[in-house]
Amino acid sequence: MGNKIQMTINTQKEGEALGDLFGIFFEDLNHAADGGLYGELIQNRSFEFDSIDHPSYHALTAWEKVESPGSRMMLSVQCTRPIHHNNPHYLVLEVLETKEGAGIKNLGYNSGITLRQGDAYRFSCFAAHDGRRDLEVEVSLETMVGEVLEQKSICVKDKNWKCYELILVPQATCTEGRLVIKMKDIGRLYLDMVSLFPCQTYKNRINGMRKDIAELLEDLRPKFMRFPGGCLVHDGSLCAEDRDSLYRWKNTIGKVEERPSKRNNWGYNQTLGLGFYEYFLLSEDLGAKPLPVLPAGYDPHHQRKVPLDALDEWIQDALDLIEFANGGVETTWGKKRAELGHAKPFNLEYIGIGNEEVQEGFFERYPYFHKAIKEKYPHIKIINTSGPFAAGSEYDRGWESARTHQSDLVDEHYYQAPEWFLAHHHRYDRFDKEGPKVFLGEYASWGNTWYNALVEASYMIGLERNAPAVGLACYAPMLCNVDYVNWKPDMIWFNNHQVFGTANYYVQKLFMNHQGDVKLDLQVEGLPDKEVQNIPLIGEVTLTPVVNTVALYKDIYIKNEDTGEIITVEAFTMEPTSKEIVLGTVEAKNYTIGMKAKRIDGKRGFMIRFSKKDAANKLNWEIGGWQNMDAVLTEDVNNRNSCLTQRSFSVETEVEYELQLQVRDRHITTFINGEKVNETLHLPVMIEPLYYSASKDLQTGEIILKVINVREESCSAVIDLMNAEGNQIKGNVYYMGGYALEAENSFEQPRLVSPKHSRIEIDKKDLEYIFPGQSITIFRLSVETK
Ligand code: AHR
Repeated sequence: MGNKIQMTINTQKEGEALGDLFGIFFEDLNHAADGGLYGELIQNRSFEFDSIDHPSYHALTAWEKVESPGSRMMLSVQCTRPIHHNNPHYLVLEVLETKEGAGIKNLGYNSGITLRQGDAYRFSCFAAHDGRRDLEVEVSLETMVGEVLEQKSICVKDKNWKCYELILVPQATCTEGRLVIKMKDIGRLYLDMVSLFPCQTYKNRINGMRKDIAELLEDLRPKFMRFPGGCLVHDGSLCAEDRDSLYRWKNTIGKVEERPSKRNNWGYNQTLGLGFYEYFLLSEDLGAKPLPVLPAGYDPHHQRKVPLDALDEWIQDALDLIEFANGGVETTWGKKRAELGHAKPFNLEYIGIGNEEVQEGFFERYPYFHKAIKEKYPHIKIINTSGPFAAGSEYDRGWESARTHQSDLVDEHYYQAPEWFLAHHHRYDRFDKEGPKVFLGEYASWGNTWYNALVEASYMIGLERNAPAVGLACYAPMLCNVDYVNWKPDMIWFNNHQVFGTANYYVQKLFMNHQGDVKLDLQVEGLPDKEVQNIPLIGEVTLTPVVNTVALYKDIYIKNEDTGEIITVEAFTMEPTSKEIVLGTVEAKNYTIGMKAKRIDGKRGFMIRFSKKDAANKLNWEIGGWQNMDAVLTEDVNNRNSCLTQRSFSVETEVEYELQLQVRDRHITTFINGEKVNETLHLPVMIEPLYYSASKDLQTGEIILKVINVREESCSAVIDLMNAEGNQIKGNVYYMGGYALEAENSFEQPRLVSPKHSRIEIDKKDLEYIFPGQSITIFRLSVETK
């Protein structure tokens, strides 16, 4: 332990408002909606699964036949007399012969349907017969091996579609349950929208959310909720009726049986049962401001663009959404909201146009949305985007567009190594508080360990310090079903019956629960020096094979700019299956790497690695990366990648490119054919002695002090609550620490890494505290007179 530190909080010196700083981001990936937060237990309830959603899907995915000896049955999926044209398919179950019944069962998600003894489940379906006879249909909840836990019947009496409902209460608990629907006699049954919901959804809403997951969200107390994605929003065709259309909110409201089924770009089906009305309701139930994101008539993944003269429909969608959320019941869309059950407005304040779009396709469309929205709704805050990169020309273009059009916020996204977050702690210190604000709409360090969470906490102190230049921030992604992983890390993991928050979740929770309303002046003296890991950018230089790409390299050299020494390498052709080639090892501070490169075959480009210490630690210059759209400088630290800077660039076959990369101390610049392409200052990892902030809860008057110690050594501090009236401090301390850096929560140990809470009561003059190494401490204090 070093010197004592003096922390002085001037409790009367209130600073800037922290506003809606910390919130959450919901994207339907990792089966976050269907098979996740959305309470529906039946998979493929309307027989709409299709190979467009996923190559293995078909109309009977997740359904199996149930036959008894001597039964004859025919199953087919038809579409001649649908419930609604948006929901064209339905099941035809024709039993030709049976003694004990025949039918179908649904397998649910994961290992099956979770059924809890004594809980009530709402079964519903649309059914009809062929006009020849009424049909007795048995509905049961069973275990995987056919043990019946509950059974009831419906009598289908109509040849027209009718909705039938039952409440089922299983007699035992099981996590591998099945819903079984059997006809007891011969006949032809039409079936659609077969649904099973726990009656106890979050806030007991019909068509509601899974309670355990939603309650974890509620516990966060987020200020806002961004939805519905992510790439989910902007990947798809331009026609709203297409199966794989971009996300169009109007497809997602109204009766669930009338909502179309869509491809989810993460490789599965989205029923849209969790649609925009439900998102607004959920935001309200969570006490979070809704923050919807709409596509801008542009799909950056496939370069699909709505012609500018056809953009009105898309702009109208945005205007109508605002009316849907905020309009009076006399307005067209406000009336629709009221008809759905919510006459009161949802008080929408924010709207995002585009999700991390880059390139001209987006930037030429954004202004039309901006102008129309501001003209009609000047108080709505519009969010522009700076793409999926932490820096570079597209990132700069996003900010430039935001400044030009006076966007209220700019959505930044980055997923980086923990070390990047440490190195970039001061990223927002020089951001302009007057211009557009940062909306850090997606960020995470790669991993769910205590180390990741601790580093994220230190970074969040920087976000708080820089509010209001940083206006909003949310970790991403939020939810992941362990059996359907598209992306990790994630904040909350679940299966069909369990859920746990990661270490990152508990950090987010601490910051949201204890955000405070305004900053308080906090002066700290006696801090030890910063710890700077100034590792030079030296090491091997290599050429690495690129997937599906054959390239010819020639005139290769590495020049040591300190000594003038030059290494040259013979020309060679690199196949995707070739081994990585080491061009040389650099020990100098200043050096230049150059070559000519030509793609002979394939779809991508070239990969030069430098400052390579070992396979897991290196810098990379990739030309023609990700769908051959970028030239990026990235870094791997312990195999965790960070984008340092990016620029749009595509490699063409049979074109020779002159590539040059210059390292001048920590300054890296790249050139293609003599033109500067990337430039970055590589920041060394720097660990501050402590990361801290102070704020005040204006309602309770409580003083909040957050202190993060990322270092191994503990730090002792005297804390002075200056100008606070009274002599006695009372309050709460929330503490995380004492875990191994690699510790993670799991289903078995869901709260291994989670805050501990204690009470504090102490004479004001005696407030001293030891912040243990690698810890997070949050004080929430009041001062009174004893
Ligand atoms: O959060 C996962 C994905 O990362 C989001 O869909 C996208 O916006 C980003 O690229």
